[in-house]
Amino acid sequence: MGKFYITTPIYYPSDNLHIGHAYTTVVADALARYHRLLGEEVFFLTGTDEHGQKIQRRAAEVGKEPQEFVDGIVANIKALWKLLKISNDDFIRTTEPRHTKRVQQIFQRLYDQGDIYKSEYEGLYCTPCEAFWLERQLVDGKCPDCGREVEKVREESYFFRLSKYADRLMAHIEAHPEFIQPVSRKNEMVNNFLRPGLEDLCISRTTFSWGIPVPFDPKHVIYVWLDALTNYITALGYPDQVGEGSVFARFWPAELHLVGKEIVRFHTIIWPIILMALDLPLPKQVFGHGWLVLDGGKMSKSKGNVVDPVILVEKYGLDAIRYYLLREVAFGADGVYSEEALVLRINTDLANDLGNLLHRTLSMVEKFADGVVPAPGANGPLEEALQAEADRTREAMKEHMAKLEVSDALSAIFQLIGRANKYIDEAAPWSLNKSGNRERLGTVLYTMVETIRICAVLLTPYLVDTPVRIFAQLGLDTDPTALGLAAGGKWGLYPAGTRVQKGDPLFPRIDWEKEQAEAEEEGEGVKTAAPPSAEKTEAVPGKPEITIDEFAKVDLRVATVLAAEKVEGADKLLRLQVRIGGEERQIVAGIAKYYSPQELVGKEIVVVANLKPVKLRGVLSQGMILAAGDGETLAVIRPEKEVGDGTEVR
Ligand code: ME8
Ligand code: MG
Repeated sequence: MGKFYITTPIYYPSDNLHIGHAYTTVVADALARYHRLLGEEVFFLTGTDEHGQKIQRRAAEVGKEPQEFVDGIVANIKALWKLLKISNDDFIRTTEPRHTKRVQQIFQRLYDQGDIYKSEYEGLYCTPCEAFWLERQLVDGKCPDCGREVEKVREESYFFRLSKYADRLMAHIEAHPEFIQPVSRKNEMVNNFLRPGLEDLCISRTTFSWGIPVPFDPKHVIYVWLDALTNYITALGYPDQVGEGSVFARFWPAELHLVGKEIVRFHTIIWPIILMALDLPLPKQVFGHGWLVLDGGKMSKSKGNVVDPVILVEKYGLDAIRYYLLREVAFGADGVYSEEALVLRINTDLANDLGNLLHRTLSMVEKFADGVVPAPGANGPLEEALQAEADRTREAMKEHMAKLEVSDALSAIFQLIGRANKYIDEAAPWSLNKSGNRERLGTVLYTMVETIRICAVLLTPYLVDTPVRIFAQLGLDTDPTALGLAAGGKWGLYPAGTRVQKGDPLFPRIDWEKEQAEAEEEGEGVKTAAPPSAEKTEAVPGKPEITIDEFAKVDLRVATVLAAEKVEGADKLLRLQVRIGGEERQIVAGIAKYYSPQELVGKEIVVVANLKPVKLRGVLSQGMILAAGDGETLAVIRPEKEVGDGTEVR
């Protein structure tokens, strides 16, 4: 049986993670799930990179010890991966003893064999990037990666002999074109870094203390990249648990290190050389993907222009977010994140194509066959074509996934979904029902159901709840991944005679087009000349119609704000103490960008009083405040005159 060891970068817990980190981790998760579906033994590692000056400074800023500071953020990171249903097999923290002791052992060995030596360092350091630069690498005197100021530092340091291994590395890269992917990144590494010649690498610092001490010279801490990169082997047990049958022996070398493009350099130059010095095989591939950008700039924790995945999941649901991340951008390239594009994906692919396919199919099984899927009769040309398409899709998915073309793999599956919708139109089960052609009708209904079952199996690496929900609605109580891709993706497994269980729509449509059209029909608003098409106005995302009874379930109340303060470590959130009639409550609201804590104290606002309490960033929120906003501006809704808190809003 094959094996597959995949890693994400270990992220800095200098702040809560954003959609960019979720992007890498969700892609890694899809790959891990895909390889499990192939029947391979998978080890999927993620974790946190907790040492270094930046973390030490961030902790000091908020008046905490570094360990206490990172513990708090790491708890949020773990909760985020749980929310996104990330299926990692281990989570390594560089502050864990299993890691620190192993890094010291590695350092000692490299020193003993002469690959590490002591000297003096003078250089230019970018603290936010944790990277040293040479004068000639700077852009306008600033860090070439992030454009911020660099600091001149001079100190006694330990050095790692990168230069000694440069030729071997070059030879390896040339002999293994798959090692650095996409190929553009390989060329960049060779031309910009290897060809000009490697300098030995400074791997210890004495100017801060938050790190792993050099074992025989503890006033030095091990500089963060040696500490960080080695996580990929310390997590497996290297160097002390490497014998036959060990996790290390089973899984090293990694099949894939998945990283963002800005850290390809560390993973394809420093990391392989460390491994060469340790006499270990090199990972099969380092893939440097592009950035999700926002308004033309990279999202970054230190710049504060980030999108919070927790809020998106709450708003649109987990699988919608996973789908968007995996589908929207060709993996490797940069992509622009936009909520509008996300809504469009939900509406077109998930609600319309996939959701409708299931809904139409189950409705027809109910209407034409009393809810029980008939046994198929003989196939006609339409069925043959659709089955062949299903087989082709499975192969296309495999080809794309082998090349990490995750978006193309999903697109192939959605082509099959589109084909299935077209099949229904062509096979026209309603006319077969009318004409009483029961055998042909049975074949068509079965074919519809079986195509959906196969699509659900093919979707399991990408969407986590939806395939299970589809199976349940098809009346199957098995796990869609249970048979794997080869067996589970084969035609004809659906047991005829099963009763379907039609349920809620998989993805409620966010129906802004319809809403707009209706508003126009009813003559709401003044119709003006059509705006020039270039200035397309922002559409209002609508929701399906509800009854007055459904609205009445929402308990809206007037509340008085008694106190407000910022939530530590979450720059969007305010914690409000409010009074609703006789009762005092705490509500966390994402309004800190628009209101200072003091602004709301003493004011009456409107809250949803019967909302299930949730924890936001670990802080309990017992309700939600009403506000109007579009991301640019935001206004809290307040009664037009004082009415007293506890008053019902209707
Ligand atoms: O670099 N778009 O940690 P980090 C896409 N600790 N991916 C993004 C992204 C964006 N806008 N922002 C972040 C470190 N990422 C080191 C790594 S590994 C031994 C040590 C993802 O917290 C992407 O994978 O800065 C990027 O490489 C990583 O997060 C950087 O995370
Ligand atoms: Mg970074």
